[in-house]
Formats: sequence, structure tokens, C-alpha cells
Amino acid sequence: MKGWLIHLYFLLFSLFFSSNSCALPLLSCPHDQSAALNQFSNSFSVDCSYFDPWEAHMTKTISWMEGTNCCLWDGVNTDTETGNVIALDLSFSCLVGPLQSNSTLFLLSHLRQLNLAGNNFNMSPMASQFGQLTSLTHLNISGSGFSGKIPLAISHLSELLSLDLSGNYGLIFEGHVFENVVKNLTQLRHLHLSNIDMSSVVPTSFLNMSSYITTLILEENGLQGKFPEDVFHFPYLQKFDLFEIENQLELKFPKTNWSGPLKSLQVRRAYLQELPDSIGNLRSLEILDLLRIQLRLNSDKFNGNFELDKLSELSKLEVLSLSDNALLSFTSVSNANYSLSNLARLELSSCNISEFPNFVRNLEGLTDLDLSYNRIHVIEADMFLKLKGPKVLDLSHNIPLSVRDDSEVDLVLPILNSLLLSSCNITELSNFLTTQESLKYLHLSNNSIQGQITEQENNWGSNLLTLDLSDNLLTALEYYPWKSIQVLVLGSNLLEGPLLAPPPSTMVFIISNNRLNGEVPSSICNCNPESSNFIVYLDLSYNNLSGAISKCLGFRQLSISDLQMNNFNGNIPDFCVERDPKLRILNLNNNDFDGPLPKSLANCLRLEVLNLGNNMINDTFPHWLGDLPWLRVLVLRSNYFHGQIAHSANESHFSTLQILDLSHNKFSGFLPTTYFTNFKGMMYLANVPMVYIGPSADQHYYTESLVVTMKGNLAALESLDLSCNKLVGEIPSELTDLNFLEVINLSENQLVGLIPQGKQFNTFLNDSYVGNTGLCGFPVSKSCGRGDPPPAILEEEEVNSAFGLDWKFVMMGYGCGLVFGFSAGYIMMTIRRPKWLAGMVQRAGNRVLRRINKNH
Ligand SMILES: *[C@@H]1O[C@H](CO)[C@@H](O)[C@H](O)[C@H]1NC(C)=O
Ligand SMILES: *[C@@H]1O[C@H](CO)[C@@H](O)[C@H](O)[C@H]1NC(C)=O
Ligand SMILES: *[C@@H]1O[C@H](CO)[C@@H](O)[C@H](O)[C@H]1NC(C)=O
Ligand SMILES: *[C@@H]1O[C@H](CO)[C@@H](O)[C@H](O)[C@H]1NC(C)=O
Ligand SMILES: *[C@@H]1O[C@H](CO)[C@@H](O)[C@H](O)[C@H]1NC(C)=O
Ligand SMILES: *[C@@H]1O[C@H](CO)[C@@H](O)[C@H](O)[C@H]1NC(C)=O
Ligand SMILES: *[C@@H]1O[C@H](CO)[C@@H](O)[C@H](O)[C@H]1NC(C)=O
Ligand SMILES: *[C@@H]1O[C@H](CO)[C@@H](O)[C@H](O)[C@H]1NC(C)=O
Ligand SMILES: *[C@@H]1O[C@H](CO)[C@@H](O)[C@H](O)[C@H]1NC(C)=O
Ligand SMILES: *[C@@H]1O[C@H](CO)[C@@H](O)[C@H](O)[C@H]1NC(C)=O
Ligand SMILES: *[C@@H]1O[C@H](CO)[C@@H](O)[C@H](O)[C@H]1NC(C)=O
Ligand SMILES: *[C@@H]1O[C@H](CO)[C@@H](O)[C@H](O)[C@H]1NC(C)=O
Repeated sequence: MKGWLIHLYFLLFSLFFSSNSCALPLLSCPHDQSAALNQFSNSFSVDCSYFDPWEAHMTKTISWMEGTNCCLWDGVNTDTETGNVIALDLSFSCLVGPLQSNSTLFLLSHLRQLNLAGNNFNMSPMASQFGQLTSLTHLNISGSGFSGKIPLAISHLSELLSLDLSGNYGLIFEGHVFENVVKNLTQLRHLHLSNIDMSSVVPTSFLNMSSYITTLILEENGLQGKFPEDVFHFPYLQKFDLFEIENQLELKFPKTNWSGPLKSLQVRRAYLQELPDSIGNLRSLEILDLLRIQLRLNSDKFNGNFELDKLSELSKLEVLSLSDNALLSFTSVSNANYSLSNLARLELSSCNISEFPNFVRNLEGLTDLDLSYNRIHVIEADMFLKLKGPKVLDLSHNIPLSVRDDSEVDLVLPILNSLLLSSCNITELSNFLTTQESLKYLHLSNNSIQGQITEQENNWGSNLLTLDLSDNLLTALEYYPWKSIQVLVLGSNLLEGPLLAPPPSTMVFIISNNRLNGEVPSSICNCNPESSNFIVYLDLSYNNLSGAISKCLGFRQLSISDLQMNNFNGNIPDFCVERDPKLRILNLNNNDFDGPLPKSLANCLRLEVLNLGNNMINDTFPHWLGDLPWLRVLVLRSNYFHGQIAHSANESHFSTLQILDLSHNKFSGFLPTTYFTNFKGMMYLANVPMVYIGPSADQHYYTESLVVTMKGNLAALESLDLSCNKLVGEIPSELTDLNFLEVINLSENQLVGLIPQGKQFNTFLNDSYVGNTGLCGFPVSKSCGRGDPPPAILEEEEVNSAFGLDWKFVMMGYGCGLVFGFSAGYIMMTIRRPKWLAGMVQRAGNRVLRRINKNH
């Protein structure tokens, strides 16, 4: 084909397929609208590094070309008759920056559909100008970092059919605004309000919603009081989700006349007065999820029995989740005959069940059965005889679990996709694994499995994608039978000998806390650029590995690398020399690395944690790391770093740091007060939760690190511990500006002069200052009165000659020398992030979990 012909072909193709709203002959969108779009897009930077890499992004605005017809632009749709811009979908487009009230977006008055979900508008307030877009039928700004009060003006959007404000953790829906909004949006069908603050909304306001309401999603809104029963009588309601964090909301399901098109009813962590029989009338119900409901047990009728018979007519029911309801009892109905032929997923985790429920035998359509965290000790061998499924079976945390062995039949398990048997006190790798050829996900952590993985004895699991054998008693690993494995977790066993490189398909490899020795084989690197897989998460920590670390460990897609507590030595190789490096966490703590730091670390633009503590690195302060945009934790503790700690006039310098540990080095000079000014950035972050930001490969590690985080770090972050050093000079008055501090410990130093006064400094007690004889003023007993000699202040040169200044700056309140709690592997992965982003990361993580854990 001739060039021009191909061109025309392509043009026609794109006209018909990529932008079906462009009418022929080509109708150009009005100039003012394309200019407004352009100016709107130019007001943001496009930077996908701010977003979770697991999320799919499309940088649509990058392709927008001024002077071309905007109806051909990605994400833009125009009216076929007028050419006006009527729809804009810029969801997940990596837009970064505030969306201001003077934005040209608000000039696009013909817009009917606007989707800005999944961008980062930098905590900007939701402008009241959204209310000018009165033609909108769909508005979606979910998970895009808006904050502040929702403006009353959105009640002008009376054409809205769908409104999604969820996942903007900083947004507040005030009671009176909400009342006006629901009253005025009379056409509304879909209302998604998860993760925004609605604590001042009176629940009865929901009664004034549009009668067309079809979807109502209310997750973690802090609603309190009594939720009106009549909402369940809305005639078109199909999906109702209410998840609370605390049980602060009381619900009552209708006892009579409850019918209608409800397909999905999810109520979690709410007080429920009772489970009325009327629930059995919801013949359209497909999903029933009542996780941790707290039934009012003192009510006359309710005796704690959940009568599953109530549900027996719900023939469309696909998902039934009653997890985390230990007070319910299911045993009384265990012989009932159920016609729940469509039930695919049954979740009865943490229900205090002591026997395998018999009715499960008849659930022929079951594909996913969760009985974890119960007290089931015996599985009947013929339990699953009738079932085609399940494909996913979770029996973990039933201690101890065994198969009834006086039975005539051998255990017959269905063909499984996922089998979860963590914490069941299993002692050996059972033979049945050899018959489970299609098994993809196998969790056996925290059992008592002994022995060795050898080629002779282990020929199972050739299709496994995830295997977790952590916390067992395995002693040797001579061979990997798992040729397709992606996530391989062998941590906390008794493995000895040299490290065997995992199969090339491995993406997550955790073998920490064993007794491995020798060098890391270079084959672990899988440097083959043709290979589509790569290790993203490598954890070799807490072993006795030695030698130089292979250069290629810094290459490719490595995101988390934890090599701490080994005997690696030599220079630290270059990291982040490839394009778009992924490295987020690098932990080389407690090895024998020496030499200077490789300057290439400054290219690690995603780096969040760099721990080089307890090595023999001989260098000056790496001020060149100061511009890394996400660096939260920098630990150089106990090395041979020396010289002045750089002062920089640049405000942004290390401005994202939350933990800086420079103790036990050879630094000299005064406390660099510029840092205290820069650390103001921490105040903004001081009130947000910590989130695991690892590759979320596996639920186990995810929750593990969350638990650790909640226990350890969080409360201590408001303290500053500089105790037990040789700090000299006066306490910098800038410290009083760190108004998030609740505890300060400057004891056992050589500080002198007046203790700063004012703000929260007035609340610190004498203990904060003991062991500094030169300090005076409140609260120490020594006064700085006129009669006292002026406090001695050394000149800088004097200081340098007198002390090799050794100081540490720590944002956590542990004792002398003990700096912070990265005690074991997982905690490494907890990082603070802005809350709205946290939510996104968490959701993305959960999605990955689902993808990985469940059947495709
Ligand atoms: C919007 O206002 C900000 C200051 O508040 C200004 O910097 C920006 O240029 C204005 N943008 C437009 C499009 O007028
Ligand atoms: C409600 O919508 C109407 C248009 O349908 C508008 O005139 C009125 O101002 C709105 N009320 C509020 C409180 O926004
Ligand atoms: C809003 O957009 C996000 C991302 O495209 C999507 O997942 C969500 O379902 C949308 N909300 C509604 C109510 O359509
Ligand atoms: C619902 O609307 C009616 C009429 O506007 C009003 O009287 C009532 O107070 C509203 N109820 C709530 C709970 O907002
Ligand atoms: C139930 O519906 C019937 C018929 O619509 C009606 O007569 C009856 O009063 C309703 N009962 C309640 C308690 O609302
Ligand atoms: C679990 O059930 C047993 C009796 O089967 C009971 O003694 C125990 O209190 C229950 N535990 C909880 C947390 O309800
Ligand atoms: C159980 O249900 C099946 C199918 O619905 C029916 O054929 C059978 O008779 C029932 N058995 C009992 C004991 O109710
Ligand atoms: C776990 O198994 C071992 C050996 O079979 C047994 O001695 C121990 O009591 C079991 N632990 C529990 C909690 O059942
Ligand atoms: C490991 O299993 C034991 C019982 O064998 C249990 O008590 C413990 O809670 C489990 N640990 C974890 C982290 O699940
Ligand atoms: C660790 O390995 C070194 C040799 O590299 C050896 O001397 C030492 O004994 C080992 N330590 C342990 C605890 O196995
Ligand atoms: C650090 O390196 C310098 C030369 O670059 C050398 O003079 C000094 O002795 C080294 N310090 C240590 C503790 O190895
Ligand atoms: C401040 O930052 C700019 C740009 O990043 C850089 O060119 C300049 O050298 C820095 N100044 C100091 C004192 O570090």
C-alpha cells in the first residue's frame, strides 16, 4: 500500500473506532473548549511515579495536541451535532497538582460526564465551581486526593444520575450540605461515598434521597446513630454496602414487607437488632455479607442461632459471608437440606465453629470455602465426595487439624486451585499434594513441617504460583520442584548450606531467617532481558551469607531488597543505573560493606527507605540524596561517615524524611538547624496511618506488617530522642516549631544555655534534660537569673577540636542507642503516606491479593 493510503486508512480507522463520537464530516470542537481543555491539562504535571505501580495508568493528556480537533483526543467525547465537549474521562491519568477554583475545567459547561478518578490533586479543596457544571449526569472524583468540605454548590447538579466521591480521605460531608444535596439530586441512581467523613450527617437524611436510588455505598464514613429502616424499602435499591470501622451505627432490617430487587446486601461492623425471617424474601439476593455484625443478644427473640433455613429459598445467592461472628451458632442446623444451588462462596471464618458443617456437603456449586480461624479439628475423609468444588479451600488456623483416620475411605479432596492450611500444626508434607496437579496457591506457614526438599521426595507443585512454607522446621533445600513459582516464601525455617537460586519465574523470593551461608549465586539475577519475569522483592535477611553482592542485584525490576544481617562485603554495587528504576526499599543493614557510597543511588527516584547502618562505609554525608522525592527513612548509623553534615538553603532538601539516623559516625559540627526547619514536612504527615507498600504479593505479609505497624510505631512518632550523645551548644529554638512533638528526650548530652520556652515545650518535664549540667531555666532547677554566670558557648572550631561529634536524630522514642524498631523483616515495609494515597495503595493491594489468591 502506498504511504498516503495507509495514512488515510489509519485516519478512517481512528475515526470509526478510537473516537466514535466524531461525526463525519469532521465536526471540530469549538476553539474555546479545546483551549480550555488544553489549559486544564497544562495545569498539572503528568507523573506516574506518584501512583501505585500495580494500578493501570493511561497518560491520556500527553497525546493532546493543540490545534487538532479535540474530539480526537484521548478521553474526550463530543456531541455529534454541536461538537461541544460532553464527556471527559481522565481517570488514572497520572495528573499531579492542585485543581484550583479558577481551573478552565469549569468553562466546559456542556459536560455531561466527568471522571477524574485516581489522580493526585494534592489535597486541594473541592471547588464550589463544580456546581457550575449543571449538565452533569455523571461525576466521579474517587480516589483523587481532594480534601476539605464538600461545597453546597454541588446541590446545583440536579441532573446527576451517578455521583462518586469515594476514597478522598480528606473530604468532609457536613450534615446540612448532605441534606441539601440528597434532596436536590432527584434523579440520582448511584451514590458512592466511601472513605469520606460523614460523622456529622444525621442518618435519617438518607430518607430524603431520590426514590430512584439503585446503588448506595457507604464504607468507613463514621456514621453514628440509627440508620433508618425505610431505606431498605426504596423500590429500586439493588446494592447496599455499609462497612463501618467501629460498631457505632445501629441498623434494623425490615421485619415485614421486605422484598424488592436487592441483589447485594453487605453490612459490616454494625449493630443489628435481629436477622428477621423477611431476609428470606429477598429472592434477587446474590450477595449477603454480614461480617462482624453485633446482634443485640438481649433482645427477646434472638438466642444466637443463625438459622440458615431462613436463606433456603434464596436460590440466586452466590456469596454468603458470615465471618467474624463468634457469637452465632450454626451447629443446630447442621443437618438441614439446602437448595442453595448457586452458592459459590461461603465464608464462615472466625465463627467459633467446632465441627465441619454438614450442610456444606450438599452445596454442589461451591467454589470457595473459607472456614479459617475456627475450632475444627477433624475433617471427615468423605466430606467433599459430592462436591465438584470448591476450588479454594481455607482451613487455616484450625489447631490442630487432622483427617479422621478410622474412616474406610481415603481423604478425597476436590481438584483445588488454592489450599490454605497455615497454622494447623501439620507435621509433614502430605502425600495428597502429589495428586493436586492444578494447585496454584498453597499456604502452609506456621506449621511443624520437618525434613528436606529433595528431588527424590518432592515431585509435587509443578503448577504452583505461590507457595508459603515459612515458619516451619525444614532443614535442607536441595532442589526446587516448583517450576512455575512466582511467590516463594521459605523464611524462618532451619535451612542450612548454600543458597540455591530460585526458578527463573520467581518474582517474590523470601528466605530470611535461616542458616544459609556462602555466596549468592549469580544465577539469582536472571539478567536475561528477554525474560518477562524478574524478582521484584528479594529478602535474604538474617542468614550468614557472605561475599560481594552481585552487580545485577541492582538491575531490572527490583523494588524491595532486604539483605540485612548477613556478612556481605566489598563495595556497594551501583543501583538504579537502568531506565526508570523501581527500587523502593534497600536494606543493607549489618553487613561488612566498605568503600564509598555509589553515587548512582541518587537515580533511585522511587527510593523510600535506605538503610546502610552498621557497615564500614567511609564517605562524607550524602547530601546528594536530598532531592529524592519519596525518601522517608535514611539510616547511616554506625559507619565511617565523616565531615560536616551539609547545610543547604534549599527548602526541599530531605523534606520528606521521617526517620534520620546518623548516630555512631564521625560527623563533626553543630546540630544543623536547617533540618529542623525542613522537617516541618513531617507535621503534615504526622496524622496519617502507615501502610504496607510492598508488592502486596500475599495477604499474609500484608496483614503481618499492618499488625506490626499498629503495635509499634505509630504512637511513638510524636517523640524526638536525642539522648546519650555528645551534642554540644544550645537547644535550637527551631525545635519549638515542631508542634507535633509530644515527647522530647535530650538527656545525657553536653547541652548548655536556656531551655527554649513556649508552645509544647512548657509541657516537657525535667526528665527530658537530665545529665546536661549546662542547661538552665524551666523545668530544670537551675535558673538562668542575672546572678548566674552566662552559659558557656563554644565556638565552632573549639567544638571540632574538642569532640568528634557523634549525634543522632531520631523521630522515635526508644532508649539510648536503640534507635528504631526495624526488628525483623516485615517491618521494613511500613511507610507513611498521605492518607488518600494510602487508601488507593491498599485497594490496589487488595486487588492484587484477590488476583493472586483466588482463581484467576
Ligand atoms: C489560578 O490561580 C492561581 C493562583 O491562585 C494562579 O497561579 C493561576 O495562574 C490561575 N490559573 C488560571 C488559569 O487563571
Ligand atoms: C436545587 O436545584 C435547583 C434546580 O433544579 C436549583 O434552582 C436550586 O438552587 C437547587 N438548590 C440548592 C440548595 O442548591
Ligand atoms: C469511578 O471511576 C472509577 C475508576 O474509573 C471506577 O472504578 C468506579 O466504578 C467509578 N464509579 C462509578 C460510580 O461509576
Ligand atoms: C426530608 O425532607 C423533608 C421535606 O423537605 C424535611 O421536612 C425533613 O426534615 C427532611 N428529613 C431529613 C431527615 O432531612
Ligand atoms: C405491608 O404491605 C401491605 C400491602 O402493601 C400493607 O397493607 C401493610 O400495611 C404493610 N405492612 C407494614 C408493616 O408496612
Ligand atoms: C465458642 O464456643 C464455645 C462453646 O462451643 C463457648 O464456650 C465459647 O465461649 C465460644 N467462644 C466465643 C468467643 O464466643
Ligand atoms: C433435599 O433436597 C433435595 C433437592 O432439593 C430433595 O430432592 C430431597 O428430598 C430433600 N431431602 C430432604 C430430607 O428434605
Ligand atoms: C502440635 O503437634 C505436636 C506433635 O504432633 C503436638 O505435640 C502438639 O501438642 C500440637 N500442638 C497443638 C497446639 O495442638
Ligand atoms: C502459629 O501457630 C500457633 C499454634 O500452633 C498459634 O498459636 C500462633 O498464633 C500461630 N502464629 C501465627 C503468627 O499465626
Ligand atoms: C558464618 O559464616 C562464617 C564464614 O563465612 C563462619 O565462620 C561462621 O561460623 C558462620 N556463622 C554461623 C553462625 O554459622
Ligand atoms: C576513609 O578513607 C580515607 C581516604 O579516602 C582514609 O584516609 C581514612 O583512613 C578512611 N577511614 C577509615 C576509618 O577507614
Ligand atoms: C538547590 O537546588 C538547585 C536545583 O535542584 C540546585 O541547582 C542548587 O545547587 C541547590 N542549592 C544548594 C545550595 O544545594
